[in-house]
Amino acid sequence: MNEITPTSGRRRVLSGMRPTGKLHLGNYMGALYNWVRLQQEYECFFFIADYHALTTDYADTSQLKGNIHQVALDFLAAGLDPEQCTIFRQYHVPAHAELYALLANITPLSWLERVPSYKDQQEQLKEKDLATFGFLGYPLLQSADILVYQPTFVPVGQDQAAHVEITREIARRFNFLYPRAGDLPVEPRRTLPEHMESPAVLDPILPEPQVLLTPSPKLPGTDGRKMSKSYGNTILLSDTEATIRAKLKTMVTDPARVRRTDPGNPDVCPVFDLHKVFSSPEIQQEARAGCESAGIGCIQCKGWVADAIVRELAPIQERRLSYEANPALVTEILRAGAVRANERANQTMREVSAAMGLD
Ligand code: TRP
Ligand code: SF4
Repeated sequence: MNEITPTSGRRRVLSGMRPTGKLHLGNYMGALYNWVRLQQEYECFFFIADYHALTTDYADTSQLKGNIHQVALDFLAAGLDPEQCTIFRQYHVPAHAELYALLANITPLSWLERVPSYKDQQEQLKEKDLATFGFLGYPLLQSADILVYQPTFVPVGQDQAAHVEITREIARRFNFLYPRAGDLPVEPRRTLPEHMESPAVLDPILPEPQVLLTPSPKLPGTDGRKMSKSYGNTILLSDTEATIRAKLKTMVTDPARVRRTDPGNPDVCPVFDLHKVFSSPEIQQEARAGCESAGIGCIQCKGWVADAIVRELAPIQERRLSYEANPALVTEILRAGAVRANERANQTMREVSAAMGLD
């Protein structure tokens, strides 16, 4: 546990997740499932974005501690292996906040204002007052989270691609303004006008990370809309078998299949979307044929999906139980992860401070 993982030479990956509480199947397929596969090939840093939770939930932090613990449990349960990757909390690595503060100086306000999620989320979360500096700065904090590890890749879903794009723009601007100390006969550099794209420099301090788009299969919740905590239509990674089966029983189906004797159309049925993700090709085939010929009922079809999901989640839940029984171990894993993350992040900060003339 205390050893530094053998990471040297492997390309680096960084990603994070907001602590929203117990994770659901959508979070799993959209991120964790992919992270677990990346950890073998890359030097991976995965963190719990607890500062980001405050950008929208600053007014009520009563759930924060519990949510952080639940997300840590789900990371480990899903198969992130602290021997293979570095798992930590943003709060434990001050360099995220330090780089955020430094980058704030070179970030044009207009870049933040035009990030699509800024206005969208303010509209959607009307009950919260998001006319704050912290909420506007969210994408810059995310940029700092990323750049402070100088990663090659950032695995995220499509919804986060714009944030990786602004990260690249900020990196480019930084690299133009602050080449490596001693690299150049430095001419006085003027701040770039904000509409001007910075030219690329050789051997930059903050390399532009590439987005690694997570292939996201369509994962509907029990009401047929996209699975999402805010819709209350989720299946949690930690749901018991009985709960999973009960939730699936209530799931919406092809609305045209009213009676058991009506043939259905799997292509418009959200239950069948779950089959496509979790069931074997044989079961999918059987469900399709049975649906189209009214040979099976929806109850039976849903039972098969439940079987597949229960099977997928069994090893995850087994690991979750063992970590739940040992909260001190989870704390220790996050602490050890923070040691490694601090080392890596501080290395970047030394280069950044030198280039900015602070050291
Ligand atoms: N904004 C991301 C989300 O809502 C979470 C996040 C914060 C993140 N910092 C990051 C993701 C850095 C990738 C890299 O899901
Ligand atoms: Fe959907 Fe299955 Fe019912 Fe067909 S049989 S409508 S695929 S739940």
